[in-house]
Amino acid sequence: MPDRVTIFDTTLRDGEQSPGATMNTEQKIEVARQLSRLGVDIIEAGFPAASPGDLDAVRRIATEVKGLTVLGLARTSFYDIDAAWEAVQHAEDASIHTFISTSPIHIERKLRKTPDEVIEMARAAVRRCKSYVSKVEFSAEDATRSDWDYLCRIFAAAIEEGATTINIPDTVGYTMPAEYQELLRYVRANTPGIEDIVISVHCHNDLGMATANTLAAIQAGARQVEVTINGIGERAGNTSLEEVVMGLKTRHDLYDDIETGIDATQLVPTSRLVSRMTGISVQPNKAIVGANAFAHEAGIHQDGMLKDRETYEIMTPESVGWEESKLVLGKHSGRAGFNAKLVELGYEVERETLQDLYNRFIALTDRKKTVSDADIIAIVEDNLQRVSGDVIVKLIDWRAASASDGDCEAAVILEINGREREATGRGNGQVDALYTAVDALVDVQPKLEHLHVEAVTSSADAQGSVLTRVRVGDEVYTGQAVSTDIIAASLDSYIQAINRALVARASRTQDQATKREAV
Ligand code: KIV
Ligand code: ZN
Repeated sequence: MPDRVTIFDTTLRDGEQSPGATMNTEQKIEVARQLSRLGVDIIEAGFPAASPGDLDAVRRIATEVKGLTVLGLARTSFYDIDAAWEAVQHAEDASIHTFISTSPIHIERKLRKTPDEVIEMARAAVRRCKSYVSKVEFSAEDATRSDWDYLCRIFAAAIEEGATTINIPDTVGYTMPAEYQELLRYVRANTPGIEDIVISVHCHNDLGMATANTLAAIQAGARQVEVTINGIGERAGNTSLEEVVMGLKTRHDLYDDIETGIDATQLVPTSRLVSRMTGISVQPNKAIVGANAFAHEAGIHQDGMLKDRETYEIMTPESVGWEESKLVLGKHSGRAGFNAKLVELGYEVERETLQDLYNRFIALTDRKKTVSDADIIAIVEDNLQRVSGDVIVKLIDWRAASASDGDCEAAVILEINGREREATGRGNGQVDALYTAVDALVDVQPKLEHLHVEAVTSSADAQGSVLTRVRVGDEVYTGQAVSTDIIAASLDSYIQAINRALVARASRTQDQATKREAV
């Protein structure tokens, strides 16, 4: 029987800690669904104690996403652990991950505790987690800068209290493959009770070593890897899921045929989805999922490829999801064929949604010569984003014009609370002018924090996917839209973000009114 490595995905927790990667709850659910299609074993859905919004997002993922373990992160405080339990309790398979720092610098300067006090805090935390769930992970934050004997003591204590997984994080991306292997072997040899415990590794990429360290750790006995899609995460990021999975697959000769449950053909669609949802582009030369990962430019390489692909290709683009469609759709495809394509791509939609999507697809075939799988995924996601939630502000019409002097004018007609209103705006580009016109109509002051435009495919007639992030007061709201016209998509996504802000304000006002009535 081949060994198996558990894939623990932390895109929605550590990944979301990437500067600027904040996702709203609907986006997180969409990513979680795709992670389930991809075949990850565990998702760390968030840090429920961080805010009521985080708790709600984890709770919704736990309730709505099936086929995997949903886990919440908690410091050792009971407040955090109780929040994590509240969030994950309805999952098909729920788990809690608790952590505390173990390096001298963290213990002395951050926690201001003694090493023995930290061990007692770890014990109490694991015990509390165990009162809620059977699967408990304990992490020693900054393990790679900790004293090895101390690590063995704290892991033994956590195991005694019932931890089922112990994690050895390289929190600051400091270790190197040989050293990390030695540490793992030391912990395995010197921690009482570790024999039946899953050893997990969690690496950061500060020195660009996250994937190398993770793969080295597997050779030293780690059987769970904590990874993110596209390697997003705190600072330089976390270990990239796609690199570890394809490393194991491609070099199975070195890794004793160790398997994962990942369907590698879902890697590229998942990478695209995460990039669109977070607004963090994938660098073109990124291994596996970058646009150039399978592009051969040099003449010698192209010549070799034409003679035999294996001259320069160690894995095929199709094996990681760059595959072009099996079912080719076009202008004349019917609703049944379109639905079959959705099923092939992993979507099951209601009758009504199918009709909406089909209408958008047919409209797209008028504007675009070839409609690829990526185009269809983009319109499905766009639709899934929109269907949920109330609509306070809606776009009715718009126009925008540029001139050679750089001055742009725009006009928009919006329906706000059922009433049509019109405004004009000027700006240094069409998008700027349109946003100025929208701002004149809404009674909030949105501050645009982020605007990310990405082509869904590489052709000149590609759809553009636009993600906007606006700040209204202390809260940040996102909008996302696709269209063959990036000005239209930019406007649409901005209005979606503002709509979310207005809906949130209306619901707060409603809550306050209910509370007043109750008093
Ligand atoms: O990097 C780290 O140490 C973490 C822990 C919470 C596991 O993210
Ligand atoms: Zn981390």
